[in-house]
Amino acid sequence: MLSLKHFALTLCKEKRSGTVIRHLTHFASSQSNSIGNNNKTPPPSNPSVSSYYKVNNQSAIDTAAGKPSVRLTPYMILYSGKSHDGSHLLKSAQYLWKELPVRIAHRIHEFRSLPFIIGCNPTILEVHELYIRAFNILNNHPAIRTADDEAAYSRLLRDLLDDHTHVVTQLAAGFKECRKHIQNEDVVRQFCDRTLTSRLGIRLLVTHHLSLREEKPHHVGIINKSLRLKDLVEKWAEFTRRLAFHRYGKSPDIRLSGHIGSTFPYITLPLDYILPELFKNAVRATIESHPDASESSLPSVHVTIANNEVDFILRISDRGGGIPHAVLPKVMHYNFTTAEESTEQRLEVDPLGNIIDASNPGSGSTMSPMHGFGFGLPTSRAYAEYLGGSLTIQSLQGLGTDVYLRLKHIDSKHDAFRI
Ligand code: ADP
Ligand code: COI
Repeated sequence: MLSLKHFALTLCKEKRSGTVIRHLTHFASSQSNSIGNNNKTPPPSNPSVSSYYKVNNQSAIDTAAGKPSVRLTPYMILYSGKSHDGSHLLKSAQYLWKELPVRIAHRIHEFRSLPFIIGCNPTILEVHELYIRAFNILNNHPAIRTADDEAAYSRLLRDLLDDHTHVVTQLAAGFKECRKHIQNEDVVRQFCDRTLTSRLGIRLLVTHHLSLREEKPHHVGIINKSLRLKDLVEKWAEFTRRLAFHRYGKSPDIRLSGHIGSTFPYITLPLDYILPELFKNAVRATIESHPDASESSLPSVHVTIANNEVDFILRISDRGGGIPHAVLPKVMHYNFTTAEESTEQRLEVDPLGNIIDASNPGSGSTMSPMHGFGFGLPTSRAYAEYLGGSLTIQSLQGLGTDVYLRLKHIDSKHDAFRI
């Protein structure tokens, strides 16, 4: 089967846009056939009608995209409870069976509304294609009625999670490739914010369902009923330090203070993305702004935890020289990075830069770089806002940077965020 990516590569060689659109329309028709064939969907009766950009109003994707998604509060997820007869698993799978095609159809619509020149980028098309494929698989799946149905559906979900592991990295690479065509930064921001947070929500729901099938102490699905933030901070601080040793041969200490004894219910998954991104930035800045410093004379990175009834806050303070005035307004732009100026040793970095993926923390090997495609800060901010919080930066130019990550508690019944 010819993939959208291969088609786009051929397409890029075509200079005349008229030819491009004609080919794309024709290609999309055959593409929807071949995707359908994978999943035993009968081919459309008139292949020349359906097209990739010219939306067919009758299509299943459009119907699903027209429905609102049903978002749950963590409180609803936490207290939907476990039953001895496994009926909670069946209910959870039935909710996903209805909900996932709707959410994925929204994603596909978003890809379709990208400016043509960006939507045609081969790497972005590859992700678009992944979502069309996921939609067809999930939308064609028969209703879930029995425990066996639920088990088969769960296997399918696990495979889909794996198939989509590298979506963030792919999007980061794709947008980097077509940077020169982007005039309006807001287009990228809106697309990436919505796509990445919606994907986070989908992956949280799917992982929650799969985790409900396992027994893990203090957990209900993805919710850790007594998360000790200190432990998580220490885990990712250690990870970052190891990475820095590997890349620079040294690392500053990362010290922790404040409410280090506090425990509360929370979801680890988004923090598994955000924390290493923030720590890598602080550690990289510290090392690179002290090029001649020995390990013992590098200033420490300080992490402070504050916890209260409404939310919890992490402040990450470094003495890495701060973010210059001219750079500060750009650091939250997707793909903005000063990686080119980095003094980091380049070692076996894979072609995609191997960004750590929120939904697949295990994918961040100790070989991943200290910086990536300039997606760390904007993605972390989008995740924080999606979870009812914020990510703000105070640069003390010439000295260092304070990053404030603020996240709302999940057990608040009022004013809660929804996944
Ligand atoms: P990346 O790490 O891939 O460059 P980020 O989005 O995490 O992407 O950061 C974007 C840029 O912001 C970095 O390249 C760096 O120039 C700047 N930056 C982020 N955090 C800090 C920090 N703590 N100190 C100095 N500069 C920083
Ligand atoms: C994603 O990770 O991009 C998803 O949307 C996951 C879903 C297909 C299960």
